[in-house]
This record gives sequence, C-alpha cells and structure tokens, in this order.
Amino acid sequence: MRTVFWDYENHQLKMIDQRRLPGSLEVFSCQTYEETADAIRSMVIRGAPAIGACAAFGLALAAQQSSAINLLGLMSDLEKAKSVLQNSRPTAANLAWGLKQVMKISVGYNGSADDLRTLILTRAQEIADEDVVLNMRMAEIGAELIEDGDTIIHHCNIGALAAVDWGTALGAIRFAHELGKRIHVLVDETRPRLQGARLTAWELEQYGIPYEIICDNMAGYFLKSGIVAKVMFGADRVAANGDVANKIGTYMLALAAHENNVPVYAVVPTSSVDCTLQNGDLIPIEERSQDEVLDIYIKNERATPIGANARNPAFDVTPNRLITAIITEKGVVYPPFEQNLREILKMDD
Ligand code: MRU
Repeated sequence: MRTVFWDYENHQLKMIDQRRLPGSLEVFSCQTYEETADAIRSMVIRGAPAIGACAAFGLALAAQQSSAINLLGLMSDLEKAKSVLQNSRPTAANLAWGLKQVMKISVGYNGSADDLRTLILTRAQEIADEDVVLNMRMAEIGAELIEDGDTIIHHCNIGALAAVDWGTALGAIRFAHELGKRIHVLVDETRPRLQGARLTAWELEQYGIPYEIICDNMAGYFLKSGIVAKVMFGADRVAANGDVANKIGTYMLALAAHENNVPVYAVVPTSSVDCTLQNGDLIPIEERSQDEVLDIYIKNERATPIGANARNPAFDVTPNRLITAIITEKGVVYPPFEQNLREILKMDD
C-alpha cells in the first residue's frame, strides 16, 4: 500500500494514519482540502515528499468541492485552498513545490472548469507516481555508497512512510539490503514524536533489516566508539548553499559525526532544494505544541511536572560544512554545494 493515494471509486484521498503505527495499520480518509490540511498539520501524514504529494491531491479535492461553474470561480477556490494547504506545515519545501506543480496547469488554461478538475487530479496522480520512481532512483544511487557490513545511524523516518513509497535514506538502506549487503541500522528514536522508534523500526521489521533503537543522546557515544560507518538522513528543505533543514537533532548528530570523521549523507529529492534561499538561516522552522515534549508517561505516570513549560522546534539546520554529500535522484552532489547543486538542478530528468 502507498503512503498516500487517491481512491477513484469513492473520490476520496486516503493515507496511512501514521499516528496509529506501529500499533495498528489504519487508513485515514479525507473528503475535503480542509481535512487534508488538518491531516498534514496533525501528522496523520508526515515526511517532506509524502506531504508534497498529499497537498497536490488536496487541490484535487478542492477542485471537486468547488461548486464553481466557470473557470474564474474555480481558480479563486483553488487559490484559497492552496493557501490553506501551504500553511499547514511551513518547513518542507515539497509542500509548496507540489502545490506549485498542480497550479501550473491553470496558467494560460482556457478550457472548461470541469476539464480543469480532471487535469488537476491527473497532475496530482502524476506527482505521486513520479515520487515513487525518483525515490527508487535515489535509493539505487544511495545504495552504491553503502558497503557490506556498514553500521548506519538513521535519524527520524525517511522510509516509504515519509514519501509515496520507498523513501530516501531508508530507501537506499533497503535497496542495499536487497542487493545482499549486510547492514545494521542504529535507529535514533527521534524525540519528541518518535518517528524513528515507531515508524523506522516498524519499516525495518517489514524489510528484515537488523536494527537497534537508540535514544537520540546515545548517538555521540556510538560515533566515538568507531562502529558507525555512516550517518544518513533526509531533508525538509535544502538552501542554495547546501545547508540542510531536517528533523530536530540532525544538527547535533552531524556535529558528532564530523568530530569523529564519520561521513554524513543527506538523501534528498531535488524538489526539496530551494534556490530562492541563499542559506539555511532563512528556512522557516516550524515550532509545534509544547505538549509533544511534555506529555511523557512512564508506567502511566506523567514524567514532567504539571505546569512545566517546553520549547518544541520541529527542525534544525545543519550547515553545509558538516555534510559529506547530498544524494539526489539526479546523482551525488559533493562540495562546493552552492555550485554543484546549481549544476545538478539544471540537468534534465
Ligand atoms: O516532522 P516530520 O516527521 O514530517 O519530519 C520528517 C523529517 O524531518 C524527514 O527527515 C524529512 O521530511 C525528510 S523525508 C525524506
């Protein structure tokens, strides 16, 4: 099953409910773009490529919901939906990218409103299908860098659940495993939402890849011990200079890896590269509810005092100097990133 897909029979958007995993595999349905924006905000679906495709389908729902009979009315409803979807989560570049790809269809369009509705769904479906193809390409390219016997630290979840299918860094690990390479994954639990402990571990179970979950604050210990060959993660947005915004904790992980001469790879589709931003300081960082940090229960007892306050930035920025290479669907990009990212973006698919 894909992480996100269109149900053609019922004209609904469906997605795996990632809040329920690993306990149960449930499908969540959206009938409106508002429900889609809520699903993204509340992390029913998460991961940059997955929310990009989901938002594209959200526009197809908006087109379906709109009662406009002429083009002007439909366009105005679509613009409203685009803004609601775009504001659901601010950091991932793919969200705005997916919406832009769909809206491009309407530029210079002068057919009927109903035909535009059909074209929008077709484009959203193409985006989802292309995501699977490019993730597989990235997985293949990334797998070449993985050696037999590697122990890899993986942060957050960047597997099939973070994309339409396959995923980025976990896709590369899975591809290498299927090639017969023996790999061991140290899975950062990834506080506060535990995407590593819940989702990455669940995926690794399905693939039969050996792994152990570690608390985020154990990564430095293992990096210093000499057993880790590589650190791999994804990105929600990459600035023009190669600074990488990714799940909170990535920066500390990359710093510890750099200090211990362990190579650091970001596995990222080119749709996550935002050349309008010169460096990572300009990337908007989502701050989520403090409840995600404070609501910890140990044996049914709340672990934090009632009245405690917390901060909860969902992402941080890893400066380009800590990154060994950025693996994309078009090839592996090495420093100097500013120049080499620009070159790779110019390449045809
Ligand atoms: O808050 P999340 O779970 O949406 O964050 C996801 C990540 O940070 C991933 O590492 C990122 O989206 C890359 S997915 C290829």
